[in-house]
Amino acid sequence: MNIINTIFFNTLKIFPKRFIKIFSKRYVAGFTLEETLNICKNLNSKGFALTLDILGEHTKSAEEAKNITNQYQNLFESIHKNNLDANISVKPTHIGHDLGKETFKSNLSILLDTANNYSNFIRIDMESSNLTDDTLSVYSDLFKENENLGIVLQAYLHRTLKDLRNLSNENLNFRLCKGIYKESSDIAFQRKEEINKNYIKILDYALSKQIYIGIATHDESILEESYRLIKKHKAKPKNFEFQALYGVPLDKWYKRHFRNNYKVRLYMPFGDDWYDYSLRRIKENPSIAMYVLKNLFKK
Ligand code: FDA
Repeated sequence: MNIINTIFFNTLKIFPKRFIKIFSKRYVAGFTLEETLNICKNLNSKGFALTLDILGEHTKSAEEAKNITNQYQNLFESIHKNNLDANISVKPTHIGHDLGKETFKSNLSILLDTANNYSNFIRIDMESSNLTDDTLSVYSDLFKENENLGIVLQAYLHRTLKDLRNLSNENLNFRLCKGIYKESSDIAFQRKEEINKNYIKILDYALSKQIYIGIATHDESILEESYRLIKKHKAKPKNFEFQALYGVPLDKWYKRHFRNNYKVRLYMPFGDDWYDYSLRRIKENPSIAMYVLKNLFKK
């Protein structure tokens, strides 16, 4: 972030919450479950598959972590009742990793049982690098008995291709994203060109080995390269999907994906905890924060 963006971002933090809420409406699928389910039905009818994520992270007590786990169980039930084409993503620290790896693992295990009951799927979002080892080890342990479990790998980490090679098995299903947390240069690429190069290397490897990959990016140069690699490896649509965050304007690409019969999955964060999430989105892409200002002046 350059200095002007930093100042702008810091200024936003002192804005009243209701202003940030205007911005949130674009990136948060809903503030309540009911609102979110209605949006999901509409997006399913347009051909999008979905991933639901209850906003929040770094749960501080075992009760709270259990409560969030229950909310996710109810979410599986709602998906089923509403006949939605949607699965779930969950953050380790949201279901208790700050209280220890075992708390995270036992809550995830409960969620996997629920996912199994509804023949659904759950993916573990990847958080900052101090959690990568724990996340991958819990994933590997639970995957042995529950193949409806997926993982996320981050292209900015130097270790990722090696991790993918270690994880590879015929039913691996992973999402590849660039990575959103601040990481140091000894473990993570810092420059966009380097991150993109690593992203493409990993994508190339996954497609060549027919490992199921969720290509999660809004970067048009990577999307273009994905098309080239899909062609190069004669990859079948059953082996990949495109993923994007709800609210990011990529209509041209969605049309192209649908024309090719490629699956598109939108990541739908929702719930009460919209404020921090919105600030993160603004920090990630300060230029779109102008949207807040434009809306302010429109009202
Ligand atoms: P990049 O940041 O280079 O952006 C490419 C273009 O898209 C730019 O022009 C930019 O302006 C635009 N753009 C990017 N983000 C935008 C936004 N929010 N709104 C509007 N325009 C935007 N990270 C992580 O560490 N762990 C995780 O589990 C996940 N999960 C995840 C799921 C899905 C479905 C996606 C799409 C992303 C994630 N991420 C994530 C976030 C990811 O790591 C990354 O930070 C963002 O996707 C931004 O990177 P891009 O690949 O889009 O490229």
